[in-house]
Amino acid sequence: MKVIKVKNYEEMSEEALKVVLEVVKGNEGSVLGLATGSTPLGLYAKMAQDHKENGTSYAECRAVNLDEYVGLDASSDQSYVYFMRENLFKHIDIKLENTHIPNGKAPDKNAECARYNALLGELRQDIQVLGIGSNGHIAFNEPGTAFDSVTHIVDLAESTIKDNSRLFNSIDEVPRQAFTMGLSNIMNAKKILILANGEGKANAIRELVLGEIREEVPASILRNHPDCILICDESAGKYI
Ligand code: GLP
Repeated sequence: MKVIKVKNYEEMSEEALKVVLEVVKGNEGSVLGLATGSTPLGLYAKMAQDHKENGTSYAECRAVNLDEYVGLDASSDQSYVYFMRENLFKHIDIKLENTHIPNGKAPDKNAECARYNALLGELRQDIQVLGIGSNGHIAFNEPGTAFDSVTHIVDLAESTIKDNSRLFNSIDEVPRQAFTMGLSNIMNAKKILILANGEGKANAIRELVLGEIREEVPASILRNHPDCILICDESAGKYI
């Protein structure tokens, strides 16, 4: 794993943009694996700005997202499909029909996992963008998830419900379950870009970089990936 330590969130987002643009410019039909959360917001804003100012086109790109809350769809402003439209898709020229996110409202959850997993089989990510949970989760693969997992439904960890409650009116509104790509779906990406900022991620980043590779720290599997880049700011990287 290549580690790039930068000063702050702005520099993290700037460096991340360079990595994404290198992929997109080398292949205009790239498959972009995308993540939600506050971490990639700066990257998405820079992609939008670059699209506007420099005309980088995503018209031929496809996008696959990591995860979605069970029970939410685009009508909810807490859903990840809403998040992606508002924070990225509507600001670039990607075609909405080429963007994919698990359907949080799917009536048959197992069938939805199978559908999404088959789709990932067809759309191998040229790059997968990731954030990291404070407990070391990636996507919604909580500690203890099998390294060979595929798309599945998870019961969210209490710590994740608490972390993510800041985006809801109250903790009771946070869904208790989510659809998520499995760890093997993430590892299947040709390139992985993991971003982390802020003190709250410092322990997770220490475990990711220096800890043992183990299922208790889902992100640690990334050290086995042949082309993974971690970009973190000083606070998140303070132990490494
Ligand atoms: C959620 C998402 C993850 C994300 C994590 C960190 O749990 N499922 O994909 O990496 O939150 O979020 P943030 O970037 O807001 O700290």
